[in-house]
Amino acid sequence: MDHPVVNLLLSLMSIVSTSELEHDIGVFLETHLKSLNYTVERIPISPGSPRHNIYAYLGSARKTRILVTAHMDTVPPHIPPTIDRENQIIRGRGSSDDLGPLAAQIFAVEELRAASLIREGDVGLLFVVGEENGGHGMVAANEMWDQGRISWEAGIFAEPTESKLTKGHKGQLAFEVIARGVACHSGYPHLGKSAIDALLAVLGELKAVDWGRSELLGKSTFNIGRIEGGEKHNIVAAAAKALCEVRMVEDLPGVKEKVKEVVGRFKEEGVELEWVFEYPEALLEWQGIEGFDANEAAPVAFGTDIPRLRAEMCGRRVLYGPGSILVAHGPDEFIKVDELIESIGGYKKLVLHFLK
Ligand SMILES: *[C@@H]1O[C@H](CO)[C@@H](O)[C@H](O)[C@H]1NC(C)=O
Ligand SMILES: [Zn+2]
Repeated sequence: MDHPVVNLLLSLMSIVSTSELEHDIGVFLETHLKSLNYTVERIPISPGSPRHNIYAYLGSARKTRILVTAHMDTVPPHIPPTIDRENQIIRGRGSSDDLGPLAAQIFAVEELRAASLIREGDVGLLFVVGEENGGHGMVAANEMWDQGRISWEAGIFAEPTESKLTKGHKGQLAFEVIARGVACHSGYPHLGKSAIDALLAVLGELKAVDWGRSELLGKSTFNIGRIEGGEKHNIVAAAAKALCEVRMVEDLPGVKEKVKEVVGRFKEEGVELEWVFEYPEALLEWQGIEGFDANEAAPVAFGTDIPRLRAEMCGRRVLYGPGSILVAHGPDEFIKVDELIESIGGYKKLVLHFLK
């Protein structure tokens, strides 16, 4: 409990930082990193936007060899931190996702710096907004390439992975299937056209598709997350729509083609397709990294910001962090202090691995 990383984490967690409301935590990090003598930039997510990422580096070398990155937004509701001394646990929102890992990253870089193991040009710290809500922060980080050809040899991404390296995670393709029909009295259905019937037919075919599998990430899955449509039992439905998702393991363009093909079969019946969002699967490094047991590495079932940063900006990538995703986003989110402190060493090993 006496380690200063706990104090930093408690300070971060006392600030409301739910997605869209990251301004104050960004300002806190900016001030904190400046006081440690980093050069700190605010990177707005769009020109003039008050929402911004924080990018910090030593001296004047914006372009660094290694990227160390975490997200500073949290999911609602804000749950202020509490200290459970008996169990040596910090409870509250962001403790594991993602402020604990973020605080450990700062300490790792600071300890490497104090030991003269890194110098100007080695490490850039990027803390992004919006990871929990569309990834606007990491998407905006891509602008750093257009503006200054900023890229890194390797990226160390922080999420609670129970202090294990991650082999990868699935990608996501969300889309809406929209059916338009013609309303009429349900006693004379031949006079109209049911949008719900058409929608059910498409959804049935989508459910039957084999979306692929890979050895590393397993099987792609399909989910119908929301359905809306119709008015009353005695009206043939004029409109219906469904919000769907494929959690895919490979070949995002191929998966999109399949969706288009299946929905396209129902064009005559008034069915249309709208893409909602997408990102490809992430394949990460997990073998041959000193200090980490490759047998413990596993894929994770949650998504991250990793696929949102374009590949040419950061070819080699690892995902690692203290804490468990199983408590993240829930009312009982917590992090064990021992694990938090140990992860500082974990991040140091990763930085040194990539600097070799
Ligand atoms: C702060 O950083 C600058 C640029 O790297 C360096 O010249 C200066 O000596 C540092 N100041 C302190 C107090 O460490
Ligand atoms: Zn997270």
